[in-house]
Amino acid sequence: MTLTFTPLHPLFVAEASAVSLRDTTDERTLAEIRAGMDRYAILVFRNQAFTDEEESAFAQRFDGELHTKPGAAAISKSRLAAYGISDISNVDADGELMEQADRKRLYSLANRLWHADASFQAPAGRYSLLHARVLPPSGGDTQFADLRAAYDALDNEMKAQLEGLTCHHSIAYSRQTLGFEFSAEELDKLKGAYHPLVRTLPRAGRKTLYIASHAARIMEMSLPEGRLLLWELMQHAVQPQFVYTHKWQDGDLVIWDNRCTMHRATAFKDVQHRRELRRVTTLDLEERPAA
Ligand code: OGA
Ligand code: MN
Repeated sequence: MTLTFTPLHPLFVAEASAVSLRDTTDERTLAEIRAGMDRYAILVFRNQAFTDEEESAFAQRFDGELHTKPGAAAISKSRLAAYGISDISNVDADGELMEQADRKRLYSLANRLWHADASFQAPAGRYSLLHARVLPPSGGDTQFADLRAAYDALDNEMKAQLEGLTCHHSIAYSRQTLGFEFSAEELDKLKGAYHPLVRTLPRAGRKTLYIASHAARIMEMSLPEGRLLLWELMQHAVQPQFVYTHKWQDGDLVIWDNRCTMHRATAFKDVQHRRELRRVTTLDLEERPAA
């Protein structure tokens, strides 16, 4: 099957032609999707009818092993059992809408900060696949920023300054930014991970920033200087020309490359309306060579 990709933004993001991914098993089509990801960093597939198991199985065919400890595992157990599936919803363990003060709700509000999935783990997240199951009548868009284009737009002096720097990413840090509090026992499980601030994507052959609200310090700099630099880079990277806003339709599957994009959820009337999506995130292990 030959897929076509129609750009949805001048820099990144494309919509794929009609395909049923739960039935997609042939290596040729999988390789076309990987090549599309190398070029666009984000792909939108309409009208996917995944069960949790099918979404998990597709992600494994597409890229391999999955993250099994999503961020929220630190504070609560998931209601979902399928391998690697994260519950991206405003619904509690009993399937009821979460109340305003629900701790898990307050914890997930940090999805509204710009981030890359599992950057606080090693291996970090490579691809995230997010599938829309139930959508609210309005709001609840997801925004994405292109960190390759943001890197390219830096001046040479800044590019030289960033070369070789290492960043500590911590989910405790990003949650604490919003005032969320952890117990000592929870914090003990959230040590974070270290990653280069600039990296080259081997197959795509492009350089990118690797930043997120989880980025807590630059190891080679003093804490305040590193944070100032991180804030400056974050502000640079989310300027309107680097940002795409995804307005969800029922059945959309969006795949994004966490190595070179950030994303954030936007507000909606979440105490009134359901919004249920399911995510899987693959491990950022060594890339397979180009087909
Ligand atoms: C995620 C995430 C944003 C959203 O699933 O990783 O950040 O809009 N989701 O739900
Ligand atoms: Mn996320």
